[in-house]
Amino acid sequence: MADHENGDARAARSASRPRDDGGPGPVLEVEELSVELLRPGAAAQLVVEQVSFTLHEGETLALIGESGSGKSLTAMAVLGLLPENVRAHGSVRYRGTDLLTLSDDALRARRGKHLATVFQDSLSALNPTLTVGFQIAEVLRVHRGLSRRAARAAAVDLLGRVRIPDPARRYGDHPHQFSGGMRQRAMIAMAVALGPDVLIADEPTTALDVTVQAQIMELLEELCAEHRSALLLITHDLGLAAGTADRVALMYAGRIVEQAPAVRLYERPAHPYTRGLLNAVPSLDAPVGGLVPVPGTPPAPGAFPDGCVFHPRCPSARDRCATQRPALEPGADGRTAACHYPLDPQEAPRA
Ligand SMILES: Nc1ncnc2c1ncn2[C@@H]1O[C@H](COP(=O)(O)OP(=O)(O)O)[C@@H](O)[C@H]1O
Ligand code: SF4
Ligand SMILES: [Mg+2]
Repeated sequence: MADHENGDARAARSASRPRDDGGPGPVLEVEELSVELLRPGAAAQLVVEQVSFTLHEGETLALIGESGSGKSLTAMAVLGLLPENVRAHGSVRYRGTDLLTLSDDALRARRGKHLATVFQDSLSALNPTLTVGFQIAEVLRVHRGLSRRAARAAAVDLLGRVRIPDPARRYGDHPHQFSGGMRQRAMIAMAVALGPDVLIADEPTTALDVTVQAQIMELLEELCAEHRSALLLITHDLGLAAGTADRVALMYAGRIVEQAPAVRLYERPAHPYTRGLLNAVPSLDAPVGGLVPVPGTPPAPGAFPDGCVFHPRCPSARDRCATQRPALEPGADGRTAACHYPLDPQEAPRA
């Protein structure tokens, strides 16, 4: 039951956080963000459709979804890191400034300092020809204007903070001399070096074994709490999100289909897709790691069905679902769900 107690505490924290009531506004507001793939000689293909969410100081929002649901493209769009063949619409406001309207230079200045990232693949994110310590020190030198000596000292300190043993010596190691878990810690050190307001972690522990996963998540939580950073945690692992997130947004075929405080979503899902996924996890106290999909497969971009995108797989589908797309409607107790026939939140909680 420990998870549920944490969940209650988290819900209370969420509820007491200033919202649209004259308190400080959100750090990040993503509104109707759509992402499309540009294809030479063919119509652009929609892969992310009208995704909206907000992040408040110190809050963790988990963006969950099966592989291919559009999580990483959403993150890349927020960070202004989309590849050439991909275009974003909508708005991504960081403390009121729409990042989608900024020049590359202005964006680069904000990345790292205000918005930082941890990716799944630390080996390709770090430069293999430079030492790990030097790469962290460079961030501090460039953005903070520290001298070489001060940047080095601060980088050694940070390596210690992320629990790299013997940090002064390991400062001089190249990325391949670190284990996967240590590289991920080094990436986290680099990401939090400047005390960012928003940290976006895209599958930060997917490549690691379960014990190391837990340590890395603990470290992320600890450092975010210290800096009051908002964390956007992207994962396909419901169990991982349950242990960390204040709120959860579930994506399916490029859309958010349900968004709710974590405790409520896990106890009483409103969307049939959410319920299907939760039923596939035997117990959230002993997560199996990874989504066990409901029968069938998600549609590929370009083959999103009419009506509700989930209708071919939905056990609750009725005629209307095949023709009318449900809007993401605000419901009771701070949740939104895109479904014509949401499950009754008064129903008994899941067993
Ligand atoms: N650069 C790209 N070019 C073409 N298709 C892409 C590109 N990036 C992602 N996609 C496609 O867009 C969809 C969403 O991808 P992604 O955001 O990476 O999903 P997720 O992170 O949820 O697994 C997938 O079908 C993927 O194949
Ligand atoms: S709108 Fe219809 S098909 Fe879609 S999730 Fe709700 S009940 Fe199922
Ligand atoms: Mg991804």
